[in-house]
Amino acid sequence: MSDELFQLFARLIYDVAGIQLSGQKKTLVMTRFQKRLRMLGLTRYEEYLQLVREDRNEFILMLNSITTNTTKFFRENHHFDFLRETLLPHLLQQKRATREIRIWSAGCSSGEEPYSIAITLLEKLKNITGGYDRNDPCRGWDIKILATDISTKVLAAAQEGGYNAESLQADLANPLLATYFERADDGRYLVRPGVKQLVRFRRLNFKEQSYPFKKSFDLIFCRNVMIYFDDAMKQHLLARFHQHLAPHGHLFLGHSETMFGNRLFTPVHITVYRKQ
Ligand SMILES: C[S@@+](CC[C@H](N)C(=O)[O-])C[C@H]1O[C@@H](n2cnc3c(N)ncnc32)[C@H](O)[C@@H]1O
Repeated sequence: MSDELFQLFARLIYDVAGIQLSGQKKTLVMTRFQKRLRMLGLTRYEEYLQLVREDRNEFILMLNSITTNTTKFFRENHHFDFLRETLLPHLLQQKRATREIRIWSAGCSSGEEPYSIAITLLEKLKNITGGYDRNDPCRGWDIKILATDISTKVLAAAQEGGYNAESLQADLANPLLATYFERADDGRYLVRPGVKQLVRFRRLNFKEQSYPFKKSFDLIFCRNVMIYFDDAMKQHLLARFHQHLAPHGHLFLGHSETMFGNRLFTPVHITVYRKQ
């Protein structure tokens, strides 16, 4: 692939998804496209560019191939400690009348983040109410976690909710595994319906000018996503998060992300911010 052709792909991807691809990513991009080219019987990257320009479905598949989806259960564990020990007691008290909690996992990848949030909430409710009831895990609370990503590939995996046993055993304590997962015939762990019912997966591209949400969120997690964006896109996202957070709602960012000079939020913990 010539540098000029790579720039055409990079420009297209930036315009549609806001993802920045520097020249250093050329080899990586070529490797990721090769599989598609083989499957489509194409021999030249020029033909592939033409195809993604004309065919929306192929464009979506191309985005699937270039996004970086690294994630794991309870990633940046201190966020879940802070959620459990500090934010949830306050939120459950504040919402005791409506019993309604709304959370958004923005850039959810294959589901580990929203399911970790769901498990943290269910564990908290279990401790308050004195036990876990598989038939009524939310104990009368209306808890919804919206989980969005641009990649249809990771969303399909998230929706299925099947995870490799070895990595899960490394990231989750045994009692959590036994309560919230069941073992599949192929050895993987499957998220139990009681956890799944809290989470809705949807495709959403952050580049959209506006997002189709009616209700505001009490918490938004957008971790390890903004690192792929330039400043304009980061500010666009932070403004949308501010718009869609409830008054005094909280925003969780990734370990290497900051407010990028934005003054709409106050820091309250390591990369956790409160809407002003
Ligand atoms: C590294 S993963 C982060 C997963 C999880 N939040 C975590 O911290 O473990 C970044 C995710 O952002 C998604 N993403 C990248 N660009 C996006 C865009 N324009 N709109 C929506 N999601 C995007 C990718 O598909 C990917 O799954």
